[in-house]
Amino acid sequence: MRISDKLLGNNREHIPNRAFRLMAFVMKVMDIMGYYDKNFKTLGLQKGQTVIDYGCGPARYTLRIAKAIGKNGQLIATDIHPLAIKRVARKIKKYGLSNTKAVLSKGYSCPLNEHIADVVLALDMFHMIQDTNALLKEFARLVKPSGVVIIEDGHQPREQTKAKIISSGFFKIIEETKEHVKCKVLNNNFKN
Ligand SMILES: C[S@@+](CC[C@H](N)C(=O)[O-])C[C@H]1O[C@@H](n2cnc3c(N)ncnc32)[C@H](O)[C@@H]1O
Repeated sequence: MRISDKLLGNNREHIPNRAFRLMAFVMKVMDIMGYYDKNFKTLGLQKGQTVIDYGCGPARYTLRIAKAIGKNGQLIATDIHPLAIKRVARKIKKYGLSNTKAVLSKGYSCPLNEHIADVVLALDMFHMIQDTNALLKEFARLVKPSGVVIIEDGHQPREQTKAKIISSGFFKIIEETKEHVKCKVLNNNFKN
């Protein structure tokens, strides 16, 4: 693995606790600079939606998403890292977020029923995934047929993101913004 890949977490999913805390700190600094507000706007979340924030990390988007979908919506923030789940739980308590829950996922699987999400978000995490087909298959299981999956490139070029999505056969790309690729499910035959 190249040093740059190691630093950016490319193809590296479960990071050590110390690296997770460092990542959370760096994100907080970038947040103060307003970087994520810009990214958030183009997600186009609506009141009443069920949103899964897959790979939620240090809960940077939790409050924003919970507010955007309102009290009739539901946010499920999930991650394979227990520290991420703890941080979401802290935000839920601090801000009294009755529409939000934190769920620990394992490998490429999240213990939730199928077809529950209007939106599955994969923000700044897709570049870390080793078996992208397995993760996209899980997204196809979780998203409603009418729903969307929104993938941020993270630390990889757009062409690489798109190639992984298209070759999986699970999704078609319906829209691209500078930050995100929006997809609709093409094949929800996730049981094979
Ligand atoms: C760089 S952080 C981004 C966090 C958040 N989405 C954001 O944009 O602020 C990537 C997160 O993805 C999580 N992750 C990596 N592989 C995962 C997997 N297979 N399932 C769920 N989460 C995963 C990591 O644990 C980490 O918390």
